[in-house]
Amino acid sequence: MHRSFTGKKLVVASHNQGKVREIGELLADFGVEPISAGELGLPEPVEDGDTFIANAKIKALAAAERSGEISLSDDSGFAVEALNGDPGIYSARWAGPSKDFGIAMKTIQDKLEEAGAGDNRRASFICALCLAWPDGHTESFEGRVWGDFTWPAQGEKGFGYDPVFTPEGMDRTFAQMDPAEKHTISHRADAFRQLIDACFPK
Ligand code: IMP
Repeated sequence: MHRSFTGKKLVVASHNQGKVREIGELLADFGVEPISAGELGLPEPVEDGDTFIANAKIKALAAAERSGEISLSDDSGFAVEALNGDPGIYSARWAGPSKDFGIAMKTIQDKLEEAGAGDNRRASFICALCLAWPDGHTESFEGRVWGDFTWPAQGEKGFGYDPVFTPEGMDRTFAQMDPAEKHTISHRADAFRQLIDACFPK
């Protein structure tokens, strides 16, 4: 049995206004009023878990305990099969302090060559969501979209690793799609579908 979200106020355990807005839009039909951990002045916890779900739990629990409100976090990244799932939970870090995803994407291509990965270009985006209550209860979900690492990078839309990911059965990268199209098939959409089915009964 999953625990349902009740009430209106939801703390989004992120300091990223874009993420807070996106989560508010995805949950708009449920009368949720999102407030960000940043607006509440909550500190950002150290994300030292070794899985996406572990890191999502750390962030959601920290926000729920500090704010006394139900809190939602997301933790996401890009995983390449021939690199044993790297960059994975280190996806943001591979872009370095200047957040240069051109470098991060080239690092993947270089490592695939070094590893002699040949035709194995299988990759996925992963999104973990965690809803946490002030009493310590959590509900976690993991969404995923499979496809191929595509080199050279293609497309100008989106962000992060979007230009090097072609979802299965398609011939364009995420960065060549409009956000609405990406959002019907993305890892984030998959995770939100699971969260809504389990915790936001209509
Ligand atoms: P975080 O969960 O906000 O820390 O994001 C981790 C990193 O994963 C981001 O910096 C992006 O590089 C990457 N990432 C997560 N989701 C996406 C996506 O939908 N497109 C491209 N990159 C993504």
